[in-house]
Formats: sequence, structure tokens, C-alpha cells
Amino acid sequence: NTLDPHILIIYGASGDLAQRKLIPAVFDLYRGGYLPEKFALLGASRTDFTDEEFRKKVVFENEFFEAEGHEDKLDAFSQLLFYQDLKAYDGAEDVKKLKDRLEDLGQRFGTGSNYIFYLSTPPKLYNTIPKALADVGLNKPADGWSRLVVEKPFGYDEASARQLNEELQSVFRENDIYRIDHYLGKETVQNLLVTRFANGFFEPLWNRNYIQSVQITAAETVGVGSRGGYYDESGAMRDMVQNHLLQVLAHVGMEPPIRADAYSIRGEKMKLFQSLRPIKGEQVAEQVVRAQYTAGKTKEGEVPAYRDAEGVPDDSTTETYVAMKFFIDNWRWAGVPFFIRTGKCLPLKVTEVVITFKNPPQAIFAAYDDYAMKCDNQLIIRIQPDEGMAMEFGMKVPGEGFRVKNVDMDFFYRDLTTKDVPESYSRLLLDCMKGDPTLYARGDSVEQAWAFVDPILQAWENNEAPLTMYEAGTWGPVEADKLWDGVEGGMWRNPSKS
Ligand code: BG6
Repeated sequence: NTLDPHILIIYGASGDLAQRKLIPAVFDLYRGGYLPEKFALLGASRTDFTDEEFRKKVVFENEFFEAEGHEDKLDAFSQLLFYQDLKAYDGAEDVKKLKDRLEDLGQRFGTGSNYIFYLSTPPKLYNTIPKALADVGLNKPADGWSRLVVEKPFGYDEASARQLNEELQSVFRENDIYRIDHYLGKETVQNLLVTRFANGFFEPLWNRNYIQSVQITAAETVGVGSRGGYYDESGAMRDMVQNHLLQVLAHVGMEPPIRADAYSIRGEKMKLFQSLRPIKGEQVAEQVVRAQYTAGKTKEGEVPAYRDAEGVPDDSTTETYVAMKFFIDNWRWAGVPFFIRTGKCLPLKVTEVVITFKNPPQAIFAAYDDYAMKCDNQLIIRIQPDEGMAMEFGMKVPGEGFRVKNVDMDFFYRDLTTKDVPESYSRLLLDCMKGDPTLYARGDSVEQAWAFVDPILQAWENNEAPLTMYEAGTWGPVEADKLWDGVEGGMWRNPSKS
């Protein structure tokens, strides 16, 4: 393959993300033959491991590592893995040690000085590590390249995201900064672009003239589990909406890019974020519902109330559910209501986008069954699980008269390929190895997405909008249904199975 030889350095390599996602993703690439011939992975963190101990932990004894049918490749793969312990992540002594180690590995593996630094550490280290790397020139190696991958959260609000961008951009070029959003690695999120821009018949309808509303739901059955400490500082708006769901929205709503490259696609997304009509002050209570789950029963079993979860204060007002209505002020979408909803402890794990089309101008057929009782021309794009698409429309019931019934036409991804659809992290890592940031968030658009959610978070902090409660295992508070008032026939679509 044509990838440049390189070393992937994972900071925080003994942590959860590295074990659950990153190392398994690198193995996927390895067994698929995607890694360059000259490659090494260096784990770095504070735990004291030898190379062998590290290999044992992240490969041989890693419960998230799926190697069924590929056991014969494990040994060879593990030989590409090395470990460097650090006292402090950003100390001068440490970074010098790291540099020596990289030079040594570079010579042994013939990878030269091409580096990907993956920050899978607590966010407070996101600016200090890159600076320490810059101190020893690892940000701009003389005869190679250096890329930086940053996990979420990228900032806590617009101001902190801006500051982080400034700090990172002072040592790395924007195009070498890869802000990861794993939703962009999902096949179906990418397929939104293909659906819209590879077909002739969707795009002419994809606007205010024919679309009545757009809704995006990301429901999860799990609660916060043992992540209470992190989650309580974050909440559903920061955890899901500011990043993942606004990225999905951008794929649904953006203008056609002139090419399928990073510059064009990310430019169009930025324009879309700039067109989001701000929700401020009193509008927050009218257009955004925040809620928190109380004890109940979900598919996962009995769940204690959020406030009783480990690491969550008894009087926490952090939202585990958000539903919102908003508008995009541009020529394509003027006047079309958009809805986003996400929550923990809901009845199903499902993410989907539903485009509801306007009714025909005249209803000439009588109501029958569910036809004509509500607006029914819908395109349902299933992001996960059961990845695919369905179109709902009215058809004639065979027999007398003109009776119309809703039917749907399905397409499932699983019918397209017998191969496993690649995991988000494998796809995204491979893009970074290629030097293609198309599916990573650009700095300015991250700030712009924060600018949209900031006033809402602000109003909540000032208690200008109520926090409602919903029982775990239900579809959330009834207040969310009221957001649809005034949208003729419009309502949330609650899938009955995932
Ligand atoms: C993560 C959030 O980014 O995305 C989690 O921190 C959430 O709270 C997860 O559960 C959802 O991802 P997916 O891929 O399971 O939809």
C-alpha cells in the first residue's frame, strides 16, 4: 500500500479508550493489510510497563480485543507494539526520553520521523503535551511529518475551544490537527453525503419547498454507569449534541460541496453551522427541553436514578436528555423546523434521521387506515443499528375504490456487503495515516458549534429553563412532544424496534 511508514504514539495507552477502541482498531487495519509495511505503535502513559507487559494488557488479555479466526496474527502484530512510561506527560525529561525512543524505533523499523501523536488523555493535557512535543521539535520533524489526534471533549464552551485551538495551532498546522468525532467514522453518517450527492432525485426535493420537518434522534438504553464523574460535568448537550449530532445535522443540511475533499466538505459544514439561528434567553425554555432520568427499568435492567449513580451529586441538575427545535437561516432551509433529541435510559438504542415531506397540495383520496391522518411521506435514515434506509409512502389498496395505505421500501446495508462494516475508529485512524482530515472536525467549525449551544447552556446555568424528570425506560418527558406544536401532523418518530 501507499501509506508513508510511520510510528503511532498513543498517549494514555493504558486507559480505557486505548483498550476498548484504539488498539483493536489498529489490529483491524493490520489484518486488513492497511498498515504500511514499516510501522510501529508506541504506547505512552504513567503506568510502569515493560513492552511485554503492555502487549499482554492491550492484546492478549484485553477483553475488547476480538481476534477470533485471526489468532495466528496476534504474535506478529504484538511485536509492533512498544511502551514508554512517563513520569509526567509533559515534563521536559519525559519528552526527551520519548524522542530518543522514537529515534531508536524509527531506525529499527525504518519508519523515519513520521509521527501520529494520539491524545487519549484527560483533556487538561491537550495543550501541554503538544507544547512539550514542540520543545523538542517533534511537532515539525525536519525530514518527516507529524500529526496530532485529539479526542473529545474539545473545549467546554466556545471560549475554551477557541483557546485550545489557538494553543494547538501555535505548534501544529491546522491540517495536521485531527479532532476526532467517532460519528463521522460511521458508514451511515458518511452515506448521508452519498445519498444526497450521488443521486439525482433526492437533491431537488431536499429543501424548504418539499420538506416539512427534519428530526434526528439518538437514543441510548444505557445510563451513565460508572462514568458519572465525567458525565456530570458534561451532560447530554456537551456529550452528544455539540459534537456528534451537529455533525450529523451538517451532513443532512449542508450545501453540495464542489468536491469530496476536506477543504470543500468542511467549508460547507462551517457555512451550515454559521446559519444556525441562535436560541437565547426566553427562547431556551420554549425551544429546548432538558431532563434527567429517575429510577426505572430499561432493557439493561433496573436502573437507579441518575442522581444515585456513582460519582453524581445528589442534587445534580445535569441533563441526561435533550430535545430541541431550531431553524437554519439560509435559502435552502428557511422556515423548516429541525428537531434533535438524545437521551440515556430510553427504550431502544437507535440513531436515525427522519425527513418528513410535505403533503400533496390536495387530498383527493379518502382517509383509510393511517393514510391522510398524518403527514406520511418520510425518508428514514437509520444510522444504527440495522444500518439502512426506509421510504414511507401511500399506495393503493387492491380492490374497490381508491383506498390508500402507507407502505415502506427498505434498504439495509447488510444486503450490500457480506464484509463487516469497518469500525469508526479503524476508518478514522486510516484517514489520519493517509493525511486526509475530511472526516475530522475543523477548528473553526468546532468553535461555531459551541457558539450555538453556549447560550442554551448559559440559560440553564442561570436556571432560566426548568429541568424535567423522566422515568428510565420511557421515551423522555412529555414536554418534548410540545415542541411540535404548530407543525401540522408532525411528531417524534419512536421506532418500535431497534
Ligand atoms: C460518546 C459519548 O461520545 O458517544 C457517550 O461520550 C455515548 O456518552 C456515545 O454513549 C455514543 O456513541 P455510539 O457510537 O454508541 O452511538
